[in-house]
Amino acid sequence: MCGIVGYIGNSRALDILLKGMKRLEYRGYDSAGIAVRNHDEIETEKRKGRVDDLELDGLFDGNIGIGHTRWATHGKPSDENSHPFFDCTGSLAIVHNGIIDNFVTLKEELEMAGHTFTSQTDSEVIAHMVEEYYSGDLLDAVTKTVSRLKGSYAIVVMHRDHQELIASRNQSPLVVGMGTEENLVASDVPALLDHTNEVKYLMDGDIVRITPDAVFIRDATGREVDRETKVIKWTVEDAEKGGFEHFMLKEIHEQPKAIHESLLGRLVEFDEVDFARYDIRHINIVSCGTSYHAGLVGKYIIESIAGIPCMLDLASEYRYSSPPDIYPFTVFISQSGETADTIGAAKEARRRGCKTLGITNVLDSSLTREVDEVIYTQAGPEIGVAATKTFTTQLIVLYLMAIELGLQRGKLLIEQAETYRNELRKLPRRVEVLLNDTEEIQDISKRVLANAEDIFFVGRNINYPVALEGALKLKEIAYIHAAGYPAGELKHGPFALLTRETPVVAICVKDSTYEKMLGNIGEIAARESPLIGVGQEDHELEKLCDEMVHIPDIPPLFSPVLINVVLQLFAYYTAYNLGRSIDKPRNLAKSVTVE
Ligand code: M6R
Repeated sequence: MCGIVGYIGNSRALDILLKGMKRLEYRGYDSAGIAVRNHDEIETEKRKGRVDDLELDGLFDGNIGIGHTRWATHGKPSDENSHPFFDCTGSLAIVHNGIIDNFVTLKEELEMAGHTFTSQTDSEVIAHMVEEYYSGDLLDAVTKTVSRLKGSYAIVVMHRDHQELIASRNQSPLVVGMGTEENLVASDVPALLDHTNEVKYLMDGDIVRITPDAVFIRDATGREVDRETKVIKWTVEDAEKGGFEHFMLKEIHEQPKAIHESLLGRLVEFDEVDFARYDIRHINIVSCGTSYHAGLVGKYIIESIAGIPCMLDLASEYRYSSPPDIYPFTVFISQSGETADTIGAAKEARRRGCKTLGITNVLDSSLTREVDEVIYTQAGPEIGVAATKTFTTQLIVLYLMAIELGLQRGKLLIEQAETYRNELRKLPRRVEVLLNDTEEIQDISKRVLANAEDIFFVGRNINYPVALEGALKLKEIAYIHAAGYPAGELKHGPFALLTRETPVVAICVKDSTYEKMLGNIGEIAARESPLIGVGQEDHELEKLCDEMVHIPDIPPLFSPVLINVVLQLFAYYTAYNLGRSIDKPRNLAKSVTVE
């Protein structure tokens, strides 16, 4: 977590840093700070709160600087624990994203050597360690410092006597943006896009020296290297709100486009991974949060289309489980590609001898380096902390993958594959139809959901994980307790919680569980809980429910995409009515880069 940014060039660093930091606030937003080199002095401002809370009157005229937005790990959010951190003399400043596992030992060592600390953070050791090693050559001092660090870090270091920034990364993202007579470095591309769309993604262990007109990179062995320059195709506008009140709403409405982009060029041939190279008898899907729910839906998709048995693991548990005596093809799903639990699990899968695939939305993210194969979702930048269009495009990739595997295994005839592909083609339009009329959803959110303290989401079969996802989204942004359940399970305990004050959102589509689901809904109705049905036009269902949201006609196998959009909107409008901080919910961050 945390967003870092550095600028060196001819413009006023402060303005550029602030803009970049605001674009990175999705990574953490409990404190913010900047440091700018102004005539051989470093001026700084940092405090608890958002970037907008910084007090910046007067100073800050230089054109080299660093900035930070924080998601607290070591040390509570406070002015003292905010970045940048300084050495004892105030000559150098650093910003850090990650966790230094051996900071206690390093801090003791530095204190013994006479350094004075001002915070409870792990990050501050970096500033003092660079000071300790500094004797006129900043690059050398940072190189020696990072060789002592254990854990994850992306850092940027500046010194009042130097016309340069030094940056380095290990297991935390860092990307260099190359402009004209100016260069930048940041945790993520949106912070750079005002200045350049040409970027270099740094690799673990890289140390980079950045001046206004040069970028000099050394790899972990100290060898001078170049990293490929990539051209980012999306624009600043893509990463901005575009007239919507919140990023989340914008991103929900971008789903038809995101699905279209994720299907583009893949419906005739989906050949990014040559699955035939692998002996795929079992698949294990490993991920966290919303990506885990996409994996759960993926299990149903893959088992029914390709006939390959699928298992699921939460990434945070995977590493600590006893490996079974098989070597499943292991798929890691992570929109950010930076989730520490998922990356740790990918390393462990390799260690166990499994072949691995990563599904991610972020080009060159850390996960891509830990797996044998990568498939990118094409959702475009997702800024809202709540995952919306990235979930939907993860499902798209899982459908495409299942069709490909089904064909290869001879489980699927070409005609059947074409029928499935046609359903995928129709998805953007169907989502659009749904998004064109959200009045009912807005009304139910305001009247029923926003007044509840507990809400159940129930579904069966492929829509059971969609119920889990609906509950997660509501908890995450509306701060209302919600639970997702397979509808048949309520009677095994949770029925005791059903009252007139406990709304139940019931997902019902005409698949093999339809009759049973109607029975389950009837049982809930008998407990007098307010029932909100989500499904196609269906007289039987409507008779049982107090409220109803209709989705366009769609085969049950593809219904999760539409149903989930309804549940995203329930969460959004409920949170909206409660005045929640929708894009930046409390205590959370977009990518969770700590275990
Ligand atoms: O970047 P990832 O997909 O690996 O993130 C995993 C979870 O942290 C993430 O899906 C989280 O649950 C979402 N913010 C929920 O909306």
